[in-house]
Amino acid sequence: MSKKTVEDVSFQGKTALVRVDYNVPMKDGVVVDDTRIVSTLPTLRYILDDGGKIVLCSHMGRPKGEPKPEVSLAPVAEKLAELLSEAVLFADDDTVTGKKAQRVAEQLKNGQARLMLLQNTRYRAEETKNAGEYAKELASFADIFVNDAFGTAHRVHSSNVGVCDYLEGVLGFLMEKEVRTLSKAIDDPVRPVAAILGGAKVSDKIGIITHLIEKVDKILIGGAMAFTFLRAQGYETGISKVEEDKLDLAKDILKKAEQKGMRFLLPRDVKAAKAFEDTAEYVVREIDKIGADEMGLDIGPKTIKMFVEELKDIKTVVWNGPMGVFEFDHFAEGTLKIAQALASSDCFSIVGGGDSAAAVKKLGCEKEISHVSTGGGASLEYLEGKELPGIAAVSDK
Ligand code: 3PG
Repeated sequence: MSKKTVEDVSFQGKTALVRVDYNVPMKDGVVVDDTRIVSTLPTLRYILDDGGKIVLCSHMGRPKGEPKPEVSLAPVAEKLAELLSEAVLFADDDTVTGKKAQRVAEQLKNGQARLMLLQNTRYRAEETKNAGEYAKELASFADIFVNDAFGTAHRVHSSNVGVCDYLEGVLGFLMEKEVRTLSKAIDDPVRPVAAILGGAKVSDKIGIITHLIEKVDKILIGGAMAFTFLRAQGYETGISKVEEDKLDLAKDILKKAEQKGMRFLLPRDVKAAKAFEDTAEYVVREIDKIGADEMGLDIGPKTIKMFVEELKDIKTVVWNGPMGVFEFDHFAEGTLKIAQALASSDCFSIVGGGDSAAAVKKLGCEKEISHVSTGGGASLEYLEGKELPGIAAVSDK
């Protein structure tokens, strides 16, 4: 990678402002999934071992520029302290960078702790606008900036891009690993390589399909977006979710895949129901037998079998998006079976995106997947071939 990382600078006697993505799932004020926190520990330990001090900053949720107690980072500071077995001072300051935070920074300077965490960066409206003096205020806490927030790398915000106007910026280990792994799968993969794409809308995935059609050998399509392609092929899809205004686009993609002679696989059967409900009764329908009053909510058993077969000779897989309405137990099977297939295969497997990563976690098979990305939107944009502003902003080597 041509960007500087923590290994290219010295932290001895310095304070680092470390941007992390601690936008973690919470319930009743308690962190329920600490994956994103655990993923940053190698960077934090490296800086501390090198003799540095750390001021952490992150957003949580979308409080739209106002202090909202339900997205305070206080519980995250506790969790981090527990994971590091070390004190983490929390700067409980609704202005994020104000007097209270500065007093805590004094304690850090005086050696009362080696780490502190600022309050939710989105308590200030300037954060998401990357405007005003906010980036300068954040930068004033440190001598150097470390960006380890891959989940936020697609945003142009004060705390990940703006600060680089005031401090030298380098990447942390998580950021470096995410980019190295995703780029290896896309730009230099062991072939054959497949992409499994799901989710609700073709329009959300159009960028990724267009980019990956040039890069991979097979594309397997599930999720509601399959119905837009099936309709484009002339199938009656009942009341399944179809984006009528994307039918021409779907036809163009199908034509392109055919011209390239690549395998572009759509479902052969689905679990169809009459209502979009968790406990809806369903029947398995062949793709040309969906009733006028039915909608497909998951891929069916024949499709699962076909997809699993198609993955057998594959050496590299990139998966983004669920195969069905994964949040409904009745319609989670397709997504879970794909997760299982990847877990039991020895191919190089990358899972990106909230729901597909959640499926892997639900099955408890994260360890069998080569890389589960900590980024949802960020991994999607990376796979679309876009430059991520959070990465572009740090120093070149
Ligand atoms: C995420 O969870 O995808 C990141 O934390 C980014 O959050 P955002 O979509 O609110 O910017």
